[in-house]
Amino acid sequence: MGRVLFLLSWLLPQVWGNSEVLGRSFLFRCLQISSFANSSWWRTDGLAWLGELQTHRWSNASDKIDSVKPWAQGTFSSQQCDQLQYIFRGYRNSFTRDVQEFAKMLSLEYPIELQLSAGCEVYPGNVSEKFFHIAYQGDYILSFHGTAWEPAPQAPPRLDSVIKVLNQDQGTRETVQWLLSDICPQLVNGILETGKSELEKQVKPEAWLSRGLSPGPDHLLLVCHVSGFYPQPVWVMWMRGEQEQQGTQRGDFLPNADGTWYLQATLDVAAGEAAGLACRVKHSSLGGQDLVLFWDGSHTSVGLIILAVLTCLVSLFMFILALIWIRKRRSYEDIL
Ligand SMILES: *[C@@H]1O[C@H](CO)[C@@H](O)[C@H](O)[C@H]1NC(C)=O
Ligand SMILES: *[C@@H]1O[C@H](CO)[C@@H](O)[C@H](O)[C@H]1NC(C)=O
Ligand SMILES: *[C@@H]1O[C@H](CO)[C@@H](O)[C@H](O)[C@H]1NC(C)=O
Repeated sequence: MGRVLFLLSWLLPQVWGNSEVLGRSFLFRCLQISSFANSSWWRTDGLAWLGELQTHRWSNASDKIDSVKPWAQGTFSSQQCDQLQYIFRGYRNSFTRDVQEFAKMLSLEYPIELQLSAGCEVYPGNVSEKFFHIAYQGDYILSFHGTAWEPAPQAPPRLDSVIKVLNQDQGTRETVQWLLSDICPQLVNGILETGKSELEKQVKPEAWLSRGLSPGPDHLLLVCHVSGFYPQPVWVMWMRGEQEQQGTQRGDFLPNADGTWYLQATLDVAAGEAAGLACRVKHSSLGGQDLVLFWDGSHTSVGLIILAVLTCLVSLFMFILALIWIRKRRSYEDIL
């Protein structure tokens, strides 16, 4: 749980940070997950995203970083890519060795779980910010600042010896700085050219309303479904006139298979107060023309939907019977 929370706490502010500048700043982040079950079993896997699009993956089983998107190598030549690949392969080997040595030095207990989040955010005007954070057993312990490694505020004191060793390795520090300050923004700027059409894609949401499971007697759960939109930032709110309903609960963003997003917003209301409520959706693809769906009380619960489906089936059955009857009569007429 801690691990998941750690990842989310890095991902969420960054996704939201993006939404404020509406695509004007671009965040490139790499996540590395390394698990050491004991001193002889380990694996390291990596993923990279530009904004909400996954660009690369690197499985432990492979010695090659895979592009998830055809444009993921940006404007780097294949020679530059080979050089980077070589650096990362060396990095993965020495990372494993270093962790095993530190585990011995500090008599750490296995299993050991390490998560790394590193990358850069590129702002307009060629300004960029870099970050590199490390978590141990789900807790943030260490990061790279400026030109050196620093402990996180709540890191245990025994980490100081590790940081001292890490900071003695000037070659690695220079490489990390070069990757984050030069290579990362160059990759992002390149991808902004090669992946332009996909990055600037806008897909309009569709929205519909339904009634959720009743939260209690004389209460209704109004559900507003918003689906098929891209990019992710979206605003969904239950409204009464111009008044935002603060009880609106947003679900999690769920991915659709075609790379677009789904989100639902629910509101628990007293049965008599549902009339006049509306769900309002704002999204960059709508060009300022918000979607507004009014609750008219006719939104059926699941039971009513089943009834409707049954009614349809019965009608269809009757229709087929009628067809058969007409054909039979025709064939009798032919005989006569
Ligand atoms: C190390 O962990 C792996 C995976 O959990 C296990 O299969 C293996 O037996 C362990 N080896 C030792 C020496 O404990
Ligand atoms: C991960 O990759 C390394 C290096 O190729 C290998 O030695 C190790 O056994 C792999 N781990 C697993 C769990 O497959
Ligand atoms: C942006 O900055 C990078 C390094 O930070 C540099 O290599 C590149 O030439 C700059 N691009 C522009 C358009 O100024």
